[in-house]
Amino acid sequence: MPSNEAVVPLGRARDPRDTLGRPMRDLRISVMDRCNFRCPYCMPRETFHDSYRFLKSAERLSFDEIVRLARLFVSLGVQKLRITGGEPLLRANLADLVGDLTAIAGIRDVALTTNGVLLSKYASELKAAGLARVTVSLDSLDPETFRRLCGGFDELGAVLEGIADAERAGLVPLKINTVIQRGVNDEGALDLAARFRGTGIVVRFIEYMDVGNRNQWQQELVVPSAELHARIHARWPLVPLDRNYVGEVATRYAYADGSGEIGFISSVSQPFCGDCSRARLSSDGGLYTCLFATHGLDLRAPLRAGASDEELLSLIRTRWTARADRYSELRATLRAGVAQEPKIEMNYIGG
Ligand code: GTP
Ligand code: 5AD
Ligand code: SF4
Ligand code: SF4
Repeated sequence: MPSNEAVVPLGRARDPRDTLGRPMRDLRISVMDRCNFRCPYCMPRETFHDSYRFLKSAERLSFDEIVRLARLFVSLGVQKLRITGGEPLLRANLADLVGDLTAIAGIRDVALTTNGVLLSKYASELKAAGLARVTVSLDSLDPETFRRLCGGFDELGAVLEGIADAERAGLVPLKINTVIQRGVNDEGALDLAARFRGTGIVVRFIEYMDVGNRNQWQQELVVPSAELHARIHARWPLVPLDRNYVGEVATRYAYADGSGEIGFISSVSQPFCGDCSRARLSSDGGLYTCLFATHGLDLRAPLRAGASDEELLSLIRTRWTARADRYSELRATLRAGVAQEPKIEMNYIGG
């Protein structure tokens, strides 16, 4: 046994805590760095053009590698997996991976985040493979605004059909993630709420964040959830709901008239780093302990060099126990700092 582990109590070795006492419960796995959209806040065309160098297939973790790592993460306390991208449905045979991941003992929840374009094609297959539910990113119901926000694709109809087909396939509770930007799509928030009220689908409004390095984020573009809540509450009164689990990012509300649930993800105005138990695995095998991380820990190299499970576990545990991330709580100070290092881009680690 490596000498630095001799002092770690066994319980903590299996369920490590970071420097702020946070356990690791949620692993978000990016399976594909490419996307069939070019949302300006995530993959702007100027950067992600036709000759942009995406990962080659061999650079992405194989399904076997992902499953092996996922098992190791589960043995360290992870109970929840989220498959993300880029766009995960662009990864060939994704249902095979879903089948393997859902079969891991100790996993309580496997979900997928998608832009929805390919959902109609894959919903039944994913459900049959064991996927529980999907979350669809949808920023506007207005065709022109939708087109602008996804980088010029007329796919609103396909996304709405994808949502309907995913529901029919039983990928529920289906959630919709809507990133709100002031003056861009905030006026459409009520339309989204109206459209999905009473359907069982949960819309969650996300404060626009400064993820990555290319999205020209400005504080002025953020609509604080409190303001959006007030606008919606004035139209349809809302009552607060308890959170589903410790570390849930969304603050939940029910429509007082019984028409279902709505949520707000307020990582700018009300950061939730205190309970953050999320680890992120990039498509090329980097472990990131924060959405805003500047560096990852390369797990692919040791994996491919023949590292044993114990060696990989030790690497992951050491990284997690050294973790001190709380970017959203420190945003103002960190952004005011002189030299900011480049952050990881969203298409490598999903949301
Ligand atoms: P449920 O399992 O359905 O509760 O959802 P989730 O917590 O897995 O949420 P999802 O992946 O849909 O995340 C919604 C959005 O919240 C993401 O797209 C991000 O924009 C934001 N988000 C999620 N996790 C974090 C986080 O750790 N930090 C910050 N700052 N934002 C996050
Ligand atoms: N701020 C907040 N959420 C974002 N997402 C992408 N970029 C941002 C941002 N700058 C969300 C997407 C999707 C998920 C993968 O992350 O809308 O729901
Ligand atoms: Fe693709 Fe999602 Fe990024 Fe848009 S936000 S470019 S859909 S990965
Ligand atoms: Fe977790 Fe980093 Fe998000 Fe804070 S900013 S909640 S530490 S991922």
